[in-house]
Formats: sequence, structure tokens, C-alpha cells
Amino acid sequence: MPNLPEEIRQELENSEVSNAEALEQFRMRYIGRKNIIGELFSQMRNVPAEEKKAYGQMVNDLKNLAQAKFQEHIDGLSAGGAEADDHVDLTLPPLDSEFGSIHPLTATRQRFIEIFERIGFNVSAGPEIEDDWHNFTALNFPENHPAREMQDTFFIEKNPDIALRTHTSSVQIRVMENEKPPIRTLSPGRVFRNEAISARAHCVFHQMEGLYIDKGVSFADLKQTLYHFAKEMYTKDTQVRFRPSYFPFTEPSAEIDISCQICHGDGCNICKYTGWVEIGGSGMVDPNVLANCGIDPEVYSGFAFGMGIERITMLRYGIKDLRLFTENDIRFLKQFNPL
Ligand code: DAH
Repeated sequence: MPNLPEEIRQELENSEVSNAEALEQFRMRYIGRKNIIGELFSQMRNVPAEEKKAYGQMVNDLKNLAQAKFQEHIDGLSAGGAEADDHVDLTLPPLDSEFGSIHPLTATRQRFIEIFERIGFNVSAGPEIEDDWHNFTALNFPENHPAREMQDTFFIEKNPDIALRTHTSSVQIRVMENEKPPIRTLSPGRVFRNEAISARAHCVFHQMEGLYIDKGVSFADLKQTLYHFAKEMYTKDTQVRFRPSYFPFTEPSAEIDISCQICHGDGCNICKYTGWVEIGGSGMVDPNVLANCGIDPEVYSGFAFGMGIERITMLRYGIKDLRLFTENDIRFLKQFNPL
């Protein structure tokens, strides 16, 4: 053999590694899968029999030397040897790291859940892509109800109808199909409607559904629960008003209004100078709906409500344009959680 092993030994002895890149080059040349010491091993078969032992010994020593040097270089780098080469100036002030903040819609959802958890509600979820049964039929929507028409609903498939859910009331059905009363649940989530985007409407928004089913639940429970909610979410002097309304899945049904949080009754354009703002719909769960889910309406009754989380949030913080929630403007988002 030529003096190649000796050359490699010299190389190793004199090797210097001052940054990560050089370390990798060292590793590939002496340690990696196709390293040059391995090549020496593979030449063993050309070495005359009587020299094999000495040769093997020498190559082995080289291998150990390479390992030792490699470790030495790693230690050298992690002890700060790399700094000189990478030009890190330790005297510079630390980088200013920015904290994120909680999105106002998330903050409202969390507060909503907090309020209802304390009176025994849990949280349930359902799919955003929903079938006709859960979004409409089980909720007692007549076959030709306008809400089923194409201008409101984003259909994914027709016959069988599969659509983006238009409300979180679909989750009521899923919960009642799977659980036995007493049921006390909140279902927050995204809903979708084919609407033009403006300051007051969006094709994607969030709702919070509430459902309470047990023996002897009455409209008085519904009112008292929502009074409690309004005072907790806003202020102790917040007023609540129920207006008779219609929803296919509740009977009787009522629209929920609260006293305007912006002008406190003086009149402003948020409440259209009425002093009241609508925050959602509610009512006693229709006996047909209970029966559709296998719950005996002769034994059980309950109430339900659905509110827009955007609306609740806008009133909470005095936000005038719903598009702000999705524009991701840091100047807007930062205001809710200044750190
Ligand atoms: N799902 C209705 C909507 O999106 C809101 C609603 C009204 C939900 C009355 C309810 C309810 O649970 O009882 O407009």
C-alpha cells in the first residue's frame, strides 16, 4: 500500500473545524457512510497475508482517531468556537419577541362557555358539513321551507342533500340522538350562508347554540337563564326583552333583545334608535323535534337558543364592522389583549 493511511492520519491530526458546515464536511469524509477510512478497509483483500494484521490494526487506529477528532470538533463548536466564525455579537440587545393575543371572537366564546359551565352546561360539537336530516328535517323544517333554497345554503351535493351547516341547531339533533336527558349543552361553531359580505353580514360566521332538556323545563327557565347570561356577559343592569317569533324547531319561539350596550337607551345607529339590539333566537323545543330524536315529548320538555358570536362580540367591545374579525389587521387584534 502507498502511504495513504499515513496521509489520512496527518490530515486528521491537523484538521480544524470552525463552523457547522466544516463539521459536516469532516463527518462525510471520515465518518459517513462512504468515508475514506472505509475504503482502506475494503482494500484489505489486496494486502499480502502476512501484512494483513498490521494493516488492519493501522486502519482501525485511524478509525478511532477519526471518531475522537470528530467528538473533539463537536465539543469545540458547542463551547463557543463557532461564534467567532458566525459573527454573533453578544453585546446586542435581545430580539424583541411579540406575544400573540386572543382573538375577540375566541374571547367571547370562552366567556360564554364559562358562564354556562357554572350552571351545569357542557360543550358539544358537530360537523360543519351536514346532511339534510340534521340541518333541516329533524328540526321540523317543512319540505318547501325557504331556508332550504339555494340562495341561503351552500350545497355540496343535492339528493342526498349535503350542505355546509346553516346554523348550529344541527348539533342539538346530534346530541339528542346520542344522549339521554337531562341534557344541558352549548354548541359553538362556524356556520355558512350564501350572503354578500358587508359590515353586518358574512357568508361564514359563528353561532352558539344552547339546549336544555329535562322533566318540567319551562319558558320561565329559558327567560331566567338568558337574563343570567346577559348580566354576566355584559353588565348587571343589562335589560332583556323577548319578542314573539317563529322558528320551525321551537314552539313558542322568541327573539332575544338586550338593551343597547353602546348608547344605553339614548339611541344610536347600532340599535337604530330603539334602545334594543337583537342577539339571537330561542324557544321551547318543538315536541316533533324531541320525537325525531327519540325523546318522549310527553315526559320531557326543554328550551333552546342560538346566538351569533360576532354580534355578541360587537356589542361587547363596540365594534361596528364585522369584516374586522377576518381581516387579520394587527392594529385591530392587538387592542383586545394589550401585553
Ligand atoms: N338556528 C337559528 C338561526 O340560525 C337560531 C335559533 C333560534 C336557534 C331559536 C335555536 C332556537 O336553538 O331555539 O337563525
